[in-house]
Amino acid sequence: MEEDVQSVSMGTKPLLRVLGGKGTTPPPVWMMRQAGRYLPEYRAVREKAGGFLNLCLTPELAAEVTLQPVKRFGLDAAILFSDILVVPLALGRKVWFAEGEGPRLEPLSDVKTVGGLPREADANTLAPIYDTVRRVKAALGRETTLIGFCGAPWTVATYMIAGRGTADQAPPLKFAAQEPAAFADLLNRLSEASIGYLLGQLEAGAEVLQIFDTWAGVVPDKDFDRWCIMPVQTIVDGVRAKVPSARFIGFPRGVDLRLLPYIEKTGVDCVSLGWNVKLEFARELQESLPVQGNLKPEILRDGGPALDRAVDEILEALAGGPFIFNLGHGILPDTPIAHVERMLMRVRGNRR
Ligand code: CP3
Repeated sequence: MEEDVQSVSMGTKPLLRVLGGKGTTPPPVWMMRQAGRYLPEYRAVREKAGGFLNLCLTPELAAEVTLQPVKRFGLDAAILFSDILVVPLALGRKVWFAEGEGPRLEPLSDVKTVGGLPREADANTLAPIYDTVRRVKAALGRETTLIGFCGAPWTVATYMIAGRGTADQAPPLKFAAQEPAAFADLLNRLSEASIGYLLGQLEAGAEVLQIFDTWAGVVPDKDFDRWCIMPVQTIVDGVRAKVPSARFIGFPRGVDLRLLPYIEKTGVDCVSLGWNVKLEFARELQESLPVQGNLKPEILRDGGPALDRAVDEILEALAGGPFIFNLGHGILPDTPIAHVERMLMRVRGNRR
């Protein structure tokens, strides 16, 4: 029987059902960074695009790579192919990707430059991304959920200030300590820009929004509320003020007990758990909301019986409740495709 559009939006899609609090067997599954260098078809398109940012900003190609892992593996979600650093780009900062080195930005370390950032993200810069969302939505099967995303203000600010990823985030921590008002202003501006950006993605067809706070774990306890929780809460509230039904997955990576206040205050519908989170704790969290995660990417890369065991442990702990199977961070570029297939077979109980 054909389901009508309304029943789909009410949660026939497995991932949306889980976000509504219902367990499904087998659990829905997707992978962070699922469109990436471990796929030969991704490498081919990236080559053609001539650089990573070009790929993000060329809707036809970005839509193609978004769909690649969904087609290859039959995953339950497509995640928009873009990057968290398009928001600083739309705020007029220079952003580029140095081959083999990761992202680079012009560092932002003086108070005047923060105050001089435009209040609104440039709509022309972001327009191709909404176009990608529309193209992907039109091409997706009716069981597959389309996830949009942005970076959390803290994580985006770390790259803007340092101009690159750093292991300890010393530059943003120092800037925040020396210029607390300018730092708070930067977080506010990023929150506001992210609200508009996420609303644009929803309008174009995104069904769920994930907020990536990759560097939440290095934030000192005393600052966690102001730097990680409040900006995400502002984004969730700001988006829901316009679209009350908007669904959010929060990913504050590397935090453990601090997940509790994060869940309570941000209002996200689901938390994505890094691989550091113990399964017993994950199960406790699952009593208050659906959880996603948390296979260690290195275990997937290395494969073998250890992979089978890790998948089984996660399923045993979490698949009885509302759960989305995923990794605890992005898939590594040297992951063999056969290992992904092996993981999926196991998650699906060989039923697909
Ligand atoms: O998950 C997906 O498939 C969707 C696309 C996506 C990308 N980046 C594509 C990408 C998403 C959701 C992101 C988020 C992102 N970007 C985060 C948060 C999540 C995380 O992984 O912690 C962060 C911190 C960034 C910033 C960023 N972009 C870094 C640090 C790097 C370099 C790391 C690397 O793997 O090279 C990027 C580049 C990037 N973003 C790639 C992809 C597929 C690799 C680019 C390439 O093709 O060379």
